Amino acid sequence: MKIRLGWLTIVTALIVVLIQGSVTAYPTLSGKPPIVIGHRGASGYLPEHTLEAYKLAIEQGADFIEPDLVSTKDGVLVARHEPNLIDTTNVSEIAQFADRKKTIAVDGAEQEGFFSDDFTLAEIKQLRARQTRSFRDQSHNDQYEIPTFQEVIDLVKQVEASTGRKIGIYPETKHPTYFDQLGLSLEEPLIKVLVESNFTDPARIFIQSFEVKNLKDELPQLMAAEGINLPLVQLFDEFQLQPYDFVVSGDARTYADLITADSLKNFVATYAKGIGPWKRSFVMTAPVEPPMDTNGDGVAETKERLTGEVLPVIQNAHAAGLQVHPYTFRDEEQFLTTDYNGDPMAEYKQFYELGVDGLFTDFPDTAVKARG
Ligand SMILES: *[C@@H]1O[C@H](CO)[C@@H](O)[C@H](O)[C@H]1NC(C)=O
Ligand SMILES: *[C@@H]1O[C@H](CO)[C@@H](O)[C@H](O)[C@H]1NC(C)=O
Repeated sequence: MKIRLGWLTIVTALIVVLIQGSVTAYPTLSGKPPIVIGHRGASGYLPEHTLEAYKLAIEQGADFIEPDLVSTKDGVLVARHEPNLIDTTNVSEIAQFADRKKTIAVDGAEQEGFFSDDFTLAEIKQLRARQTRSFRDQSHNDQYEIPTFQEVIDLVKQVEASTGRKIGIYPETKHPTYFDQLGLSLEEPLIKVLVESNFTDPARIFIQSFEVKNLKDELPQLMAAEGINLPLVQLFDEFQLQPYDFVVSGDARTYADLITADSLKNFVATYAKGIGPWKRSFVMTAPVEPPMDTNGDGVAETKERLTGEVLPVIQNAHAAGLQVHPYTFRDEEQFLTTDYNGDPMAEYKQFYELGVDGLFTDFPDTAVKARG
């Protein structure tokens, strides 16, 4: 009996070694598999930034969920992609709010709508969320509330209590300069809610921003005062653009200047643990000529194809000790280059093999499946 058990143990150990040896080793910074980040929840399926969409992302296997944060008039952080509520909620159909409609500049660009900073939390709670993309499922519109950041944390804690799964949260400060100028700074309530909720495990949080000053100066000061140190992620817009706080302060640097090997090492890595570039800013594409009517609606669409050129952003970031989490991966054919033949798995596999440490996706189920 003892001998048999011994053999069983050896055979089992051998099988384990064989299986582990055959598992793809991902060229991530840590050597661990890349993380799947549910972008605005499982927003390919349900109206973005709702508890229902975050819950679905978690059920589909997302490691992190991503709430974008804006402020209400009374200084409460709620999950929305932009301060303007017109596209993602039913605000324009509620008579009592009709007089809140206005045209203002957000980061220098004029837009008309209803802005979160004109609504108290109690008022925002009267709105219901909508699917913003016409080609996605509209059947969940006008049902779900706009969640507060606190409610997002509470959801993740409930999941942990009932399943044991430790999901991470990847909040983004949206238009921090815009909210600073309104006296509704995002960083203080963000750190306060995290500390009061005891959600300060650095393995379960990344704080991201397209601006620099709040990552480099404001958040580190606030965290130091609380005795916490959470990883920060510098997002990169299209490279010819500038972070909006640089526009305001007169700093001439563009995102292209910030993403050089030297800048990643000697600037970004001094305050951030990762970068979030647009996937097409370093895996280069070009228009397919001539435009083709690929969906048969009589209109020729300009499709993109991969050129084969890949800028060394991942290598440079890894050399600087920075993780790379590109955005945004989407299943639908119109978001894929022609090279993938309509198969989103092919795109994920390409980026996993390039060594990304994680990625933002509207379809966490597909990203998890492609990771294998
Ligand atoms: C909009 O939101 C309200 C809640 O304030 C809800 O009762 C209503 O059904 C929603 N839909 C429309 C079309 O107004
Ligand atoms: C706070 O969270 C940590 C895990 O990150 C846990 O070990 C600790 O017990 C919690 N403290 C309180 C007061 O709940």
